[in-house]
Amino acid sequence: MMILDSVIPFGRSKAEYELMFALSESDRSKSIVGIGDGPASFNAEMTAAGYAVTSIDPIYQFTSAEIKSRFDACIDGIIEQVRNSPNNWGWNYHKSPDDLRANREKAISLFLEDYDRGKSEGRYLNAELPKLDFQDRQFQLALCSHFLFLYSEHLSFEFHLDSIRELCRIAEEVRIFPLLTLSQLRSQYIDEICSTLAQEGISSEIIQVTYELQKGGNQAIIFRQ
Ligand SMILES: C[S@@+](CC[C@H](N)C(=O)[O-])C[C@H]1O[C@@H](n2cnc3c(N)ncnc32)[C@H](O)[C@@H]1O
Repeated sequence: MMILDSVIPFGRSKAEYELMFALSESDRSKSIVGIGDGPASFNAEMTAAGYAVTSIDPIYQFTSAEIKSRFDACIDGIIEQVRNSPNNWGWNYHKSPDDLRANREKAISLFLEDYDRGKSEGRYLNAELPKLDFQDRQFQLALCSHFLFLYSEHLSFEFHLDSIRELCRIAEEVRIFPLLTLSQLRSQYIDEICSTLAQEGISSEIIQVTYELQKGGNQAIIFRQ
């Protein structure tokens, strides 16, 4: 059983996902699975715009009231940390710590408005890496924002390798952003994961993107089999 107190339920918007993953119109039209989407508004906004997104996250075992109260308990502390480390952040998308806060509040409120309906439609599924109950190639595109690589100081190399293999099983293409850890260093796992997966016929490509909140965090990685 997951403990909600160990999670920071921070969510990004459709506009942020589009920039983080360099999504083209043809990418948006694919069948997409969002991995660890948490309280992002990507699914809600994509569904409203007529696209097909399924989100998985272990926090979807909780109610909207539980997720919201955890967000409310975290937000002040996080914005304070950001304010106290001004050199770590880029402000080309969010204009300031207050703007960041407003954007996170907007995202979670769009998510919460959509959550119960999306659950009943099977768009928010309580599931977690490294093993997912989907068929091979069930999706065209898997997107993982701010989970894999970001928590490299907490989650093992094996967890990352097994998880990325699993994503390559369920989707034709996998994109992960950012490549930095919470300490803003490039994840120590990337090179070995790419070389191990290359031996299994999975290629990797690092792309520059125009979104950068963590300083230097403006790259995504794409895996394809
Ligand atoms: C920092 S949040 C990112 C939310 C969203 N992807 C975004 O970028 O706005 C990380 C998310 O990963 C989820 N998570 C934790 N363990 C997971 C696992 N084993 N598999 C999938 N998601 C997990 C957390 O519940 C949390 O919602």
